[in-house]
Amino acid sequence: QKSGYASFMAKEIHEQAEAIADTLVGRFENGRLTLEDMLIEESTLRSIDKIIVVACGTAANAGEVVKYAIEHWCRIPVEVELAHEFRYRDPIVSPKTLVVAISQSGETMDTLMAVRHAKEQGAKVVAICNTRGSTIPRESDAAIYLHVGPEIAVASTKAYLGQISACYLLGLYLAQVRGNFYGDEIQAVLDDLEQIPAKIQQVLDGSEQVEQLARDMVDATSVLFLGRHVGYPTALEGALKLKEIAYIHAEGFAAGELKHGPIALVEDGQPVFVVVPSPRGRDSLHSKVVSNIQEVRARGARTLVIAEEGDEDVLPYSDVVIRYPQTRTLFAPLLTIIPLQIFACELATAKGLDVDQPRNLAKSVTVE
Ligand code: M6R
Repeated sequence: QKSGYASFMAKEIHEQAEAIADTLVGRFENGRLTLEDMLIEESTLRSIDKIIVVACGTAANAGEVVKYAIEHWCRIPVEVELAHEFRYRDPIVSPKTLVVAISQSGETMDTLMAVRHAKEQGAKVVAICNTRGSTIPRESDAAIYLHVGPEIAVASTKAYLGQISACYLLGLYLAQVRGNFYGDEIQAVLDDLEQIPAKIQQVLDGSEQVEQLARDMVDATSVLFLGRHVGYPTALEGALKLKEIAYIHAEGFAAGELKHGPIALVEDGQPVFVVVPSPRGRDSLHSKVVSNIQEVRARGARTLVIAEEGDEDVLPYSDVVIRYPQTRTLFAPLLTIIPLQIFACELATAKGLDVDQPRNLAKSVTVE
């Protein structure tokens, strides 16, 4: 059932355009966004004064991405917390808190325990889940399903994109209910979101460049990943993918942290991926990241730069430029992670590793 791919992970990466189209389909009708399993009363959603996202691993990285969008659209503070940390720190949760539990499997024990803890404090819980009938959505007040199809590989790829997309729908829904956004505005954002599957396909169609890069780097022992704003969780997720399936030391950093420590790691030949935001967005953000590329390159780094099509500013400082299509800044994480998924998958394959069943890991962590 690998459909000619070397691994389920490769297959699932290449299914992402279709998978995200399925996450988005049929959600907007008669000028309103509707979410079928959103069973929490609109009046309750209007009274929410804080959102806490609880999740583990890749699902937590998805949470870190969507924090930017939900805060921007809804003007509600969003905290993202690893589920196992949340439970043990006496978190401030009230009936005005909306807890968003992100879990592909719906069975991750730490996330489930966080859900139970939140419910005991009177919070409403919405599950962002891929598996119908699983425990987390069953114990939650509402659910948004990803509809990306079963994910077999231990390393999560299409579910990550599905989690981000489903949380974007939640953010837009909250903005609609709370009156931050009206029909036309939601339609405009959704129109851009609906173009994402075609753009994902464009990135996938250009995957040979990254596959070759991965094969050339089969002996790498350490790779760093940098990003700012939504590029930061993308860096974390890129590093997680490489660690878990290729067993290479990999670290993701917020690019602004460089001079507070991590730049000391950079020596001659150190590969550094940098996720660059659109030059058309907030200009200070883009130019700051370009300066970060210069800083690491001046110390000998080999810069592997993920930049928007047409961004010429990165050229003088990049050893390799990997392009992604133009989109809204908030939607770029649905595109910029794909080269990093492909990189990890291809490198692990070139090393002869079991890509789908990495050592020491299980698809679903059902113990605390
Ligand atoms: O099923 P879940 O989304 O709750 O799983 C959470 C993590 O265990 C999972 O994302 C894990 O980090 C993956 N191996 C990442 O690729």
